[in-house]
Amino acid sequence: MKQFISVHDVNNIDALVQQALLYKANPFADKTLGMGKRMGLIFLNPSLRTRLSTQIAAENLGMQPIVFNVGSEGWTWEFEEEAIMSGTSVEHVKDAAPILGNYFDVLAIRTFPGLKIKEDDYSELFIKQFIKYAGVPVVSLESATLHPLQSLTDILTIIEELNKSKIVNRKSKIVLTWAPHIKPLPQCVANSFAQWINAWNLTPTLSKGEGKKRFDFVITHPQDYELDEQFTKEATITYNQEEALKDADFVYVKNWSTFSDYGKIYCNDPEWMLTEEKLKHTNNARIMHCLPVRRNIELSDEVLDSQHSIVTQQASNRVWAAQAVLSEILKANG
Ligand code: CP
Repeated sequence: MKQFISVHDVNNIDALVQQALLYKANPFADKTLGMGKRMGLIFLNPSLRTRLSTQIAAENLGMQPIVFNVGSEGWTWEFEEEAIMSGTSVEHVKDAAPILGNYFDVLAIRTFPGLKIKEDDYSELFIKQFIKYAGVPVVSLESATLHPLQSLTDILTIIEELNKSKIVNRKSKIVLTWAPHIKPLPQCVANSFAQWINAWNLTPTLSKGEGKKRFDFVITHPQDYELDEQFTKEATITYNQEEALKDADFVYVKNWSTFSDYGKIYCNDPEWMLTEEKLKHTNNARIMHCLPVRRNIELSDEVLDSQHSIVTQQASNRVWAAQAVLSEILKANG
């Protein structure tokens, strides 16, 4: 693996998940793989899980991780080529990134979208410019449109649950449901979850044969909250949350702002909050959320604190997903 920016950087999702599960069983199995290598974790935006889990993953492989919170501690970066830097940006990425590339063997970066101009965010200018000038392998810690380490973790968590349940004997149902929020949020987690789930769904399995989908994948949201079709086109999409939740085995709860009329909040209908009552129509569904979560806005306390919720397991699994990705990067890049 040369870089980790989206599902397209992964040859075999199942193999990567199996590697992550091996690390979960034996965290120090490859404790010398990254010996003598340094990893720079560059944050333009806040984080709890991504920052700490990736640091732990790097240390488990013998690397030395160093975090730099550019957004709060560093000079403000410019990403546009040929910019006349008369505004608030102090340093161009084409000057900063090569220096980081000399300091570190592997770099990782978190860059949120501005949610103002769709074309700018969806061009992924920031991470593409960082990759162009860094000169070493780059891992996305969440970019303007995608959050691949989260999505790999999500699939790992679903597989873990499938392995310990009876669902393996039939086709399972995975639902991504929109939830209300007080602020316009990026579409990254939802885009990325849809991208990875669709890719994984099309991966042939020995038991089911080539071309057969492994599960039903349904996305439900209010009207006008359609995501970018490039990520969702293989999924069933409905505005009817109750219908979507029927017989669901996994319910992934997430808010996102509008994509078409970009970055807005149209509807914040509290009726879309996931409650215990709504779970009665599911197949005893496991509830997932990437966190952080706004309690009693996106998800009720009763759901988050119930046996349905696997959000802590999911967040804890971030370490193993990151470790599997870093081990692939280290193996491919000497
Ligand atoms: N899910 C996630 O990325 O969490 P953080 O923003 O805390 O890293």
